Amino acid sequence: MRTSPDVNHPEKERPRRPRLFVVSNREPFIHSRQPDGSVSWSPTTGGVAVALDALLRERGGTWIAHGAGDADRDVVDDRDRVQVPPDEPAYTLKRIWLSAEEERRYYGGFANEGLWPTCHIAHVRPVFRSEDWAEYQSVNARFAAAIADELPGASTPVFIQDYHLALVASELRRLQPEVRTALFWHIPWPHPDRLRICPWRQDIMRGLLANDLLAFQLERDRRNFLLCVREELPVQVDRSIVNLDGHVTQLVSAPIGVDYDRINGIASGDGLSGEQARLRRELGLSGEDLIIGLGVDRLDYTKGIPERLMAVDRLLTKHPELRDRLVFVQVGVPSRSKLESYAAIEQEIDDLVADINRRHGASDRDGPVRYRKSALKIRRLVALFQLADFCVVSSLHDGMNLVAKEFVAARIDEGGVLVLSEMTGAAQELTDALIISPYDIDGFARALQAAIEMPAGERRRRMRAMRRIVAGHDVFLWASDILEGLERTRPRPRVVRGPDVPRALTSASGSRGRTASNDARDRN
Ligand code: F6P
Repeated sequence: MRTSPDVNHPEKERPRRPRLFVVSNREPFIHSRQPDGSVSWSPTTGGVAVALDALLRERGGTWIAHGAGDADRDVVDDRDRVQVPPDEPAYTLKRIWLSAEEERRYYGGFANEGLWPTCHIAHVRPVFRSEDWAEYQSVNARFAAAIADELPGASTPVFIQDYHLALVASELRRLQPEVRTALFWHIPWPHPDRLRICPWRQDIMRGLLANDLLAFQLERDRRNFLLCVREELPVQVDRSIVNLDGHVTQLVSAPIGVDYDRINGIASGDGLSGEQARLRRELGLSGEDLIIGLGVDRLDYTKGIPERLMAVDRLLTKHPELRDRLVFVQVGVPSRSKLESYAAIEQEIDDLVADINRRHGASDRDGPVRYRKSALKIRRLVALFQLADFCVVSSLHDGMNLVAKEFVAARIDEGGVLVLSEMTGAAQELTDALIISPYDIDGFARALQAAIEMPAGERRRRMRAMRRIVAGHDVFLWASDILEGLERTRPRPRVVRGPDVPRALTSASGSRGRTASNDARDRN
């Protein structure tokens, strides 16, 4: 049992559960070749990878993912497996190898130029190519074959992640009909009018409905999915249960959380002040009454980084007296850089930063925006979160946004203000943030000013309320909501095919007690 020292919430008991099978495109650890020929490793830094790694460390099991590191092959056994975390082995990582062409078409093309912009309202035109679709299908089949190869038995639940792997469950079910799978869709699910852009939408939805349980971040994503399947497929729907050709799928909403205890532990541990001193030196953060704003994002057009820079610009234009005091630190993690739309947003941000620094600073190197393009390890990130007076998450559209929750988890001092876009999933839960529209630059700039001027008492009250929410629904609860929901759909009932299926479809409908969907619906 672990406790969270500073938040008044019940201790969380985590009994040991069956081992787990996680499947995702992105791997949690990457091995790289160093110039001197040695091999080094590093954890993947994204919020989702960190959250799922925490889960597998606790439960043990196997994670199957694309091996993308240039030394990944050098450390695996003859079945392409390696024990991870490399310094403290707790579970097995099985790597799948993709050719450059497979990666370009399945990951870069269909997943990230097709599905990603279809699901996010960020005004980037989705591109669908039949060659990418063919590769997406074949790579999904390869993932399914690898799972079938490794799965110890049908009783081990398989937990599939995200839009890269929509067809895995249907392929896997052909190989192992008794398998139990849940898929979590991390990004928004679009309205039917928007999904119609995707020529292969029916195949995608059929693939997803091969899972026993399908989970979305928000209730509105779940509702949109239901609207889409009703419009496009010959389904029978009974509340949250969908029957397609005799297979039933439970639909739930379950907002993802962070490993609160770990972040909280790092935040209250030793040595963070040394890390902060280093960060201050590197970022030039000196001065008595300095105000530090912070943004931490993958360099993605959905994150609203230009809008945030424009709001900082607007604030400094209206309040020139802040020029000597306000520093905005932007950490940008390069992402999907081979795609044109990503190269374009990187360039736009570079230009904006240079322009703002030229106009408001002594020089474009010494202006108010301190921009660092690199990933941060979790300790450094926590140290930086603690330095900030306010943190900005200004996505144009975001399934959840775990940076918002990580910032809150790191603020053991109950200080700092979260400025949060209403277009994020996180805004549904973190209502004590200063909620902004990234489209209203004046309103956004006013919110930044309000964050700077917020009295300490109000800051504390808001942060305390948000910490309770983030602590109360961490990544472990998120996972157990989904996996217990999956367990409750067992045993798979026999259902009648065809139009005469009765309204009360299956015995699974009797298990719709306190499922993730109910819990989330109450909140959303
Ligand atoms: O948010 C969706 C998502 O796929 C996450 O699962 C992941 O953390 C993030 O995008 C990173 O994307 P990529 O693997 O393309 O770097």
